[in-house]
Amino acid sequence: MKAMRNKWISGAALVAAALAGTATIMRAATPVEIEKKIDALMARMTVEEKLGQMSQTTFGELTDQRKEEIRQGRWSSFFAGGTAAEKMEAQRIALKESRLGIPLIFGEDVIHGKTTTFPIPLGQAASWDPELVRQAARVAARETAAAGTNWTFSPMMDIARDPRWGRIAESFGEDPLLASRMAVAMVRGYQGDSLDAPDSIAACAKHYVGYGAAEAGREYNTTWIPENLLRDVYLAPFHASVEAGVATIMSAFNDLNGVPASANAFTLRQILRDEWKFNGFVVSDYTSIAELVPHGYAADGADAALKGIRGGVDMEMVSSDYWDHGKELIAAKKLDPKLVDEAVRDILRIKFRLGLFGAKGLATASAPAPPTAAALETAKKLAAESLVLLKNENGALPLGQSAHTIAVVGPLADSQRDQIGTWANGPADSAVTPLTALREALGAGNVMYAPGLKNSRDESHDGFAVATALARRSDAVLLFLGEEASMSGEAGSRAYLDLPGAQEALVNDVAQAGKPMIVVILAGRPLTFHNVASKAAAVLYSFHPGTMGGPAIADVLLGKAAPAGRLPVTFPRTVGQVPIYYDHMNTGRPPSETGPEASDRFRSKYLDVSFTPEYPFGFGLAYTTFHYDDLHVSSAEMPIGGNLTVSATVSNTGKTEGDEVVQLYIRQLAASLTQPVRELKDFRRVHLKPGEKQTVEFTLKSSDLAFHNGAQLVTEPGQFQVWIAPDSSSGLRGGFELVR
Ligand code: NOJ
Repeated sequence: MKAMRNKWISGAALVAAALAGTATIMRAATPVEIEKKIDALMARMTVEEKLGQMSQTTFGELTDQRKEEIRQGRWSSFFAGGTAAEKMEAQRIALKESRLGIPLIFGEDVIHGKTTTFPIPLGQAASWDPELVRQAARVAARETAAAGTNWTFSPMMDIARDPRWGRIAESFGEDPLLASRMAVAMVRGYQGDSLDAPDSIAACAKHYVGYGAAEAGREYNTTWIPENLLRDVYLAPFHASVEAGVATIMSAFNDLNGVPASANAFTLRQILRDEWKFNGFVVSDYTSIAELVPHGYAADGADAALKGIRGGVDMEMVSSDYWDHGKELIAAKKLDPKLVDEAVRDILRIKFRLGLFGAKGLATASAPAPPTAAALETAKKLAAESLVLLKNENGALPLGQSAHTIAVVGPLADSQRDQIGTWANGPADSAVTPLTALREALGAGNVMYAPGLKNSRDESHDGFAVATALARRSDAVLLFLGEEASMSGEAGSRAYLDLPGAQEALVNDVAQAGKPMIVVILAGRPLTFHNVASKAAAVLYSFHPGTMGGPAIADVLLGKAAPAGRLPVTFPRTVGQVPIYYDHMNTGRPPSETGPEASDRFRSKYLDVSFTPEYPFGFGLAYTTFHYDDLHVSSAEMPIGGNLTVSATVSNTGKTEGDEVVQLYIRQLAASLTQPVRELKDFRRVHLKPGEKQTVEFTLKSSDLAFHNGAQLVTEPGQFQVWIAPDSSSGLRGGFELVR
């Protein structure tokens, strides 16, 4: 936090203010100055004004009543709705016409881009390229700030190990290290070097915490997470984001071990404030304070307000229990006014840090401009890096010169809306679909198109005959299958993971044409599609890829770009295997595919399906092949407090250049708490030309080997295995001993 604080007084704000001609804000305030300003304001604030600062609602329209409420200090923050002009006017009223001139903070769900839509976060995680993810968030911040919004409710960093849960689409997948790297990259991208720079917006780490562990993958469901798992896995990306200086946190909807996350003093006060020293503010999720009542944790609205504030939620989103009951709770001496003061201080601190009291508050905002060429280029690059090649029999991809006439089939080949995915903020009309991009690249006359189905859920076979007839006339068939955008995201849980509607039947029909079939799946989650994959020559997986998804997919299919994504989440064979994730415990009777254990009934497995996934975490093919050798562990022993290096040589043994994501995994063989069979500790994307080789070296510190035993972070001596690997189920293995 310290390093971050010093950056508040960076020159960027100074220069920006000077350029904007705002002489009053000649330099950003230091943390000490900000605290003094907060003191001065707090001394003058009424209880109502304080409770107003703790209140947020949707913006809607700027009516006369709303204007008056702003003058009275009724609201701290708005989100959703409102034109740029209305936001500017509302902010002007807050700064110039309210008694204390406290600015509003405008929030918005900019989840994977504002006007330029990048791949859904799960797709961004599939890039395993945090620097590119940071750049994309920077673009989103610029576009968002220009439209008058100061704060995005992103990144979502819930660890998601259940593809039934629709919000896995908004997550970075199942792994705490990959999710932490992605979360930090996004926070840095949104917040820039200095929060008060004109093009910086506040990030919001959400949903704190455990939301992704919803029982049975059912949205908003209860979670039970033991403390060691909570700390090692679910809290890890939040901790990393706090260390990276994230300005705000959103408390989650879920009940966590019997205490709803939006009133959970253990996570919100003890861990977040006392242990991590977070000094930004916490906003509730949408009505999650009022929801303490149906949770069965609060008796009524007043009780909900009391428990929300005591629990550590500073700002209430949409429900109004803080405002409705705060004053009476203080008067009745139930609510300690100090807790209200602390919450208001945290909120004002971020408003000061964002520069909203100064020039930035009155900065001109305008209606969102169309994406710039540079933004589209970043979107295309990230979309291309997010594509995961799952199968490529006999080099079916990239499409060769012999494929003159292509049949494009499937409901997702030409759907702008579905391509941009859940929670897309900008309009879909700038999205370029795969069909458009393929026609552009190959000439419209060479690309025939039959959707086959009206949308991904369509059950009718009426369009099959046309699609199959086109397939017969083609050299190759490109099938665009998957899920439409509305089938994932919030309240998008599914009990089945198959391709919805009659898509599998469509594939069976088109297969009759006997032409090579390339399947591209666009989806918001891992799907199960074993039969379809077995009929296809190649399968390319695209988590909804955003505005430039079409051109990125076309480039990869045609070999102008190489597929470079790796799975950020395990793909099950069937929904019955869920939850399935790579860093599970071993059990006392681990199953095996080889040796005598393979035929032993009394092992941890199923009678009717393999225990292994369809595709493991970290997996993805390239158009070339890579070979790993020469694993070298620098020492047989690592002292606690020390480190060692692990290296291997990776060679491009194929005919084209390509990217490999080299992954470092470890396992502790015996400890005071059982440890996962593998844990990702680092990764590196390397680009290799044909015949080229590179020695990839990782430094492993003993602190990387620590785990939580309850609240205690412990590092225990013992034997470790270590892998340098292309995915979580293979690789070169070595070992070392951690010693005192
Ligand atoms: C509810 C969602 O859970 C959250 O992610 C979102 O930011 C808020 N609604 C505001 O739209």
